[in-house]
Amino acid sequence: MTSERIYSRIAGTGSYLPEKVLTNDDLAKFVDTSDEWIASRTGIRERHVAAEGETTSDLSVHAATRAMEAAGVSAADLDLIIVGTTTPDIIFPSTACLLQARLGANGCGAFDVNAACSGFLYALSIGDKFIRSGDAKTVLVVGAETLTRMVDWSERTTAVLFGDGAGAVVLKADSETGILSTHLHADGAKKELLWNPVGVSAGFRDDQPNAGVRIQMAGSDVFKYAVKALDSVVEETLEANGLDRHDIDWLIPHQANLRIIEATAKRLDMSMDRVIVTVDKHGNTSSGSVPLALDEAVRSGRVQRGQLLLLEAFGGGFTWGSALLRY
Ligand code: COA
Repeated sequence: MTSERIYSRIAGTGSYLPEKVLTNDDLAKFVDTSDEWIASRTGIRERHVAAEGETTSDLSVHAATRAMEAAGVSAADLDLIIVGTTTPDIIFPSTACLLQARLGANGCGAFDVNAACSGFLYALSIGDKFIRSGDAKTVLVVGAETLTRMVDWSERTTAVLFGDGAGAVVLKADSETGILSTHLHADGAKKELLWNPVGVSAGFRDDQPNAGVRIQMAGSDVFKYAVKALDSVVEETLEANGLDRHDIDWLIPHQANLRIIEATAKRLDMSMDRVIVTVDKHGNTSSGSVPLALDEAVRSGRVQRGQLLLLEAFGGGFTWGSALLRY
């Protein structure tokens, strides 16, 4: 007797961006930068910024509700809620618990995953494992951030990069098609190249002049490491599935920097018209970026059922990962 394979199929996607838009020109009014510098180095033109009092769980509720509507599932159908975030509303309860209460999905499991910008890929991978093991049939996976809350607006090397937003998917058990594989990696030895060294047990550090709740980054080191790590995880993903790079219909990358995205596309021998790019309008929304890009691609009709999608992300930790799926 052969047991049927269970897949996690993306049954619906949703996303949400805060109303307020901050353009590069807006930024140049209070920090020494220019639209030309930002756009040519990163591809970013504008980003959304959460309103005062608007939290990560607020963004998550909108994205999750849209994904659930698209999937045709109700709160009572959810077996598990996972939120990838580095900017939780509060230390605890988790943003997933706050979201659960707002959705009225009380009773199912709910937890956050902190893998910086790879948070959604990590959360997706965990959701997939729950479904494939048979422990869950319907899982809500969210990537949501209010990263601008920990940006030092006077520090031009980081202030220009980040934005706020959330994306969500509903995974459902399916016997036919869905996520084919996920691949997760981390290199904690590189933690100081991209971090926010403030916390609970480590407290505030006197040797960090910018301590407070501020992102610190060695931009060009991050850039070089990210390109290599993404090259390697893309190869690993294709190899694990016995696929050729030309089999991929869409690359849906983490939206940190257009030049990093172009390097991955080149590695895959993909023209940019098969790559979903939102970094120009969203900036880097960390865990929000991949599900936001996916939702835009689905709602605009570019991504179609049956197509092969490669999702990837890289972030602080360092962390990086990928998912290959038949949509
Ligand atoms: N506006 C204008 N000038 C700026 C600037 C800004 N916003 N930020 C930095 N500069 C200046 C620097 O001060 C430096 O000036 P100097 O030569 O007089 O010292 C010059 O521009 C070059 O800075 P550098 O940091 O070497 O630029 P870069 O080409 O490496 O680009 C990043 C910087 C951040 C855009 C780039 O390194 C990058 O995108 N890295 C990856 C970041 C990332 O994706 N992080 C998230 C991963 S999840």
